[in-house]
Order: sequence, then C-alpha cells, then structure tokens
Amino acid sequence: MKKRLTIAIDGPAGAGKSSAAKGLSEQLAYLYLDTGALYRAMAWKILEGKIDPSEVSKVDLLCQCIEIKLALSETHISVWVDGKDVSSLIRSPEVTATSSLISSYPDVREKLLSVQQAFGREGGVVAEGRDIGTVVFPNADLKFFLDADISVRGERRQKDLLSQGIEVDQSKTTDDLEVRDRKDSRRPLSPLKKAEDAISIDSTNLKPQEVIDLMLNEVAILQSSRPS
Ligand code: DC
Repeated sequence: MKKRLTIAIDGPAGAGKSSAAKGLSEQLAYLYLDTGALYRAMAWKILEGKIDPSEVSKVDLLCQCIEIKLALSETHISVWVDGKDVSSLIRSPEVTATSSLISSYPDVREKLLSVQQAFGREGGVVAEGRDIGTVVFPNADLKFFLDADISVRGERRQKDLLSQGIEVDQSKTTDDLEVRDRKDSRRPLSPLKKAEDAISIDSTNLKPQEVIDLMLNEVAILQSSRPS
C-alpha cells in the first residue's frame, strides 16, 4: 500500500489554494484541512463577543477559554466554536479582516497550531494556509507554493464573495487582498512565505483542474520514487 502523504499548500489569498487542496484531497481520498477557517473561527468569536480585536490582552484571554474544533463528516469538515458550527458564518469581509489581524498574535497561533497538527498527525491530509510548509508541517512529504497575479486573484475573490451573496466592489476587493498579503507576509511570526523545498506554481493562466493535475503529477513522481 502507498504511504498516505502529508501535503502542504501555501500561498496568498486568491491564489487558488482552496480549490487545489479540495480537488487534490478528493482525488487522493485524503482529508482536506482549510487552516484559514480556524483563524476565521477565532475572529468570528471575537466579533460576536464584541471584543476589540486590536486589544491583544483580551484576545489572549479568549485563547485560554475558547474551544475550537474540526469535525469530520462523510462529506466535509466543519469548524466548531464553543459547541456551535460556524462554518457558514466565517466568510464575511469583517471576519476576513479580523482574522488577518489576529493571526499575528502569538497566543492565537499557538492555540491553533496544536489543532492543525493533531488533525494531520496520521498523514493522508492536504493542508492549505500560509505557514503549513514552514511551521505546521515542516516535514510534509510534498510542499507547494501557489501564487497568481494580483488582478486575477482579486477577480477570483470577487467571484467567491458573489457566489456567497456578498456584494463588494472589485477594486476594493483587490485592494483588501493586497493589504492582507502585506500583513500576512510581514508579520514576524510564521509569515506567509515559500518553504525552501516547496514547488512553486503560478496559477495565473491555469484552470483549477490544471493546477490539480500538476500537483497529482508531483505526487505520482514522489510515490514512484519511494518504496511502498
Ligand atoms: O486562507 P484564509 O483567507 O481563509 O485565511 C484567513 C487569514 O488567516 C489570513 O489572512 C491569515 C490567516 N492564516 C494564517 O495566518 N495562517 C494560516 N495557515 C492560514 C490562515
């Protein structure tokens, strides 16, 4: 039997990480771990509790008592905060902006690191985020860094939001992405960056399935080079 791999996909927002990770995990019958959903779940709780997200000490306190869990069903993985399934509540622009801010806080990262690592312990997982190949799974079997031109990423994000019934201006969406990329890449702790051993893929001119096919090809190369 082939080894069930741990596959890391990092990159900026709108680079196509979610479609790639979902598609790849389906084709390989692996679990799909959307790590951004955990940061979003934490942000949702902060907004819901009317906590000022810029007050680090209050967010730190919340980290000590909040329970964030990933639940696995036959068809998908949901995110639960203190006993509530928040999976459908964490995609709003407010949650997005807050998640980027609080992801720079050490206590938040520490809290969520253990959830992610516990989920991926057994292998057979495709995890996507910003620091998967560098911090969460530094020994992943295969690492990808996915990127695309900012204008294309802005268009994709706009379509995503529209499909969820969220109307936002195209140029504002692109500006927000750039601001978020800057914050995610410049924070001192676990910044968004390519792991040295990650394979770069530019998805600007690629369809989602083409990205998945490139990744599947790398999986096949890896598996054929290793004894099963
Ligand atoms: O992937 P996303 O857009 O759902 O992520 C939301 C925010 O969460 C992102 O701006 C930064 C943070 N994040 C992170 O710091 N590390 C990760 N592994 C995943 C997300």
